[in-house]
Amino acid sequence: MGALGLAPSAEASAKAAFEPPEPSHFSLTGRSAKKVVILGAGVAGLATAYELGKAGYDCTILEALDRVGGRNWTIRGGDRLTELDGSTQVARFREGVYMNAGPARLAQWMVTMDYCRELGVDLEVFTNSNAQAYIYHQSMPAPVRWRTAKADVYGYVSELLSRATDAGALDAALTTQDKERLIAFLSGFGSVGNRASGFAYTGGSRRGYSVDPGAGEQTGTPLGPVPSLSEVLSSGVGQRFSFEFGYDQAMLMFQPVGGMDAIPRAFAAKIGRQRIRLGSVVTKITDWADGVEVEYRDGRGRTQKIRADLCVAAMPPHILARTPHNLGAEVQAALSTPNVTNSGKIGLEYRRRWWEIDEDIYGGITSTDLDLATIWYPSHGYGAARGLVVGYYNFGAQADAYAALKHADRERRAVEQGMRIHGAKYRDELVSSVSVAWKLQPHIEGAWVGWPSRQGAYQLLNSPAGHVYFAGDWLSHMIAWQSGALESARKVVTELHQRTLSTA
Ligand code: ALA
Repeated sequence: MGALGLAPSAEASAKAAFEPPEPSHFSLTGRSAKKVVILGAGVAGLATAYELGKAGYDCTILEALDRVGGRNWTIRGGDRLTELDGSTQVARFREGVYMNAGPARLAQWMVTMDYCRELGVDLEVFTNSNAQAYIYHQSMPAPVRWRTAKADVYGYVSELLSRATDAGALDAALTTQDKERLIAFLSGFGSVGNRASGFAYTGGSRRGYSVDPGAGEQTGTPLGPVPSLSEVLSSGVGQRFSFEFGYDQAMLMFQPVGGMDAIPRAFAAKIGRQRIRLGSVVTKITDWADGVEVEYRDGRGRTQKIRADLCVAAMPPHILARTPHNLGAEVQAALSTPNVTNSGKIGLEYRRRWWEIDEDIYGGITSTDLDLATIWYPSHGYGAARGLVVGYYNFGAQADAYAALKHADRERRAVEQGMRIHGAKYRDELVSSVSVAWKLQPHIEGAWVGWPSRQGAYQLLNSPAGHVYFAGDWLSHMIAWQSGALESARKVVTELHQRTLSTA
């Protein structure tokens, strides 16, 4: 009925179809699963091994770090963070307190959600936008709540547009009926007055209250004063709103219960830990006529070699570009093409959840024009004794500025700036902290990459070089998302499997 247009039919999922390899594919063709070496136990490498494993491929993963997940990294008490120069932090977080140092939010339409279902990873809502969190720009006398900023911007825009419409300024574009309907929409959208009032925006409950409505005669004290149109425009708060319109950033969003690393841990358990060689740094990739050989340094510093029929290189391109190989000059040039972006986060553990207790903020993000960029309040553990606020999550030059500092100075800078929003308790109630500068993380050395163009290098690496395939978010149109890594892994698995089924 829906297909015929005779009944309402919901829009179907827009995800790319994927058919995992199955053992039965081999019984039909008389061919057998191959031996595959996978470089990197990040999300792309893990998904590759997991999917190939479904059909009995003999997969081995070489991982340079002593953990799986790559940038999917949840830091808990006792974890050590060592940067390229050897400087080390040890997280002192209390039981139950953690920071997702890398990915921290999942959109509902992303394939990551499907893997969570398949792997049995429990999810909870991640609050990406919260009317109760703040916007703070240095030009403003004080931070404003998102709700207040929206009320003022929507209110004044509605007032202006209603007046212009009513005065006939848009008559070339609108019929009389359109005009009425537009004005009716704006009346609700901006909560503005009627025609007699000139469609005036005068504030109202949407801005919030300085004293909340209560029992009996307590009507509440609306938050005031309402700034002028000119003040609202000059504050620039409206420029923040489009963030949550993004296909990838719109609420609802989700996170695994207990930390994002539930995803790589679940993959590793399904793959089998014995197939994952941690502490194994790839030192050379050689493509032969009949397969591939990978040389690596194991955890004890010994050089080892592994032979396989095929290889999936699921490492960052800039690290691959530094790894000796015989894949040719074009591949080498392509691996060096993307630009590496830095990003950083600091986790500030507090002895009291003051953001909940004093400021009624339960999750969400404060956006600023300070170099800390954003402050994130936890979307879990509400009402617990302690909690962790992400004191900065920034990119590019802002992230570089923090990366250039030692941890103690990063903390000092983040706290000083955060105090402009939250006051002295932001410093006084801090108990511990940990900061990550992605460009300084060994074997990762960046947050994500950008391509100057999707022609040439990008296309070349999206096809195999001899027996070597490449996979990662960097080979997708969802860079900096686990879903990009997962989609890339699925693409490579499909191609590798088709090749196995069609060659002797
Ligand atoms: N996907 C990353 C984020 O959500 C960049 O912040």
